[in-house]
Amino acid sequence: MIRRFALLALMLLPAGFAQAQEEGIPLLHSGTDINNVSSLQRGARNFMNYCSGCHSLKYLRYNRMAADLRITEPELAANLIFTSAKPFDTINSSMPADALNWFGKVPPDLSLIARAKGVDYVYSFLKGFYADKTRPWGVNNLYLPSAAMPHVLFERQGLQKPVFKSEPDGRGGTSMVLEGVEPMTPGALKPEEYDQFVRDIANFLDYAAEPIKAKRQSLGVFVILFLLVFFVFAFLLKKEYWKDVH
Ligand code: HEC
Repeated sequence: MIRRFALLALMLLPAGFAQAQEEGIPLLHSGTDINNVSSLQRGARNFMNYCSGCHSLKYLRYNRMAADLRITEPELAANLIFTSAKPFDTINSSMPADALNWFGKVPPDLSLIARAKGVDYVYSFLKGFYADKTRPWGVNNLYLPSAAMPHVLFERQGLQKPVFKSEPDGRGGTSMVLEGVEPMTPGALKPEEYDQFVRDIANFLDYAAEPIKAKRQSLGVFVILFLLVFFVFAFLLKKEYWKDVH
């Protein structure tokens, strides 16, 4: 048994190393809170306004979202449904079929992105756009090199420029390596406001990826508490049963 575990650990080790090396620029910490309902409400609003034109959330229904985020049906219809969808429909994008010709890539469904790549990734990605004239939309992304997505929050954030550092290239010379970004032109939001804006979106996508998450976590605490209390009684009972034997 132990040998089998050791073997498994050995097999997983190189994979972990490879991942750490590939990552390059470290992700930012998003600081989201899945229990913060007003953050989730703002995130839903931001998502519907700025993202749902291109991205769907095909595993989430409007009315499920409304119930979880304490949004009433009239509010839902008035502020969050921009298509002809009914409240019981799933959240589809209004992207026509020829998106491939526009972007070279179809905007992916974002239902599971927070589980697939992590909520910190979503947050970092939305803060990672920088000016790059060689790209079709004039922007590139620190965390997704050659990203096909335009910087749709450009008016909110403003534009950032890339920062390079020189590193030895192993052949005696040096090469310029992308290190990070710094502000270039300001946007409508102050930097902290923009952080909050995209934190809310990341939080909302975390919720969308697992609508039961908040409930699961609070239930988990109760289960552990129950087990602790139950342990005391089970232990006392065991002592009672065995007291004549010892
Ligand atoms: C104009 C269309 C468009 C809009 C609007 C848009 N996106 Fe995208 N998005 C794309 C495309 C195209 C891709 C595919 C990028 C690629 O794979 O290179 C993408 C990819 C992504 C990815 C996946 C990145 C990855 O690692 O695969 C995330 C996350 C994302 N978008 C989030 C958002 C969020 C959040 C918004 C709203 C603030 C948004 N997008 C608005 C077109 C759009």
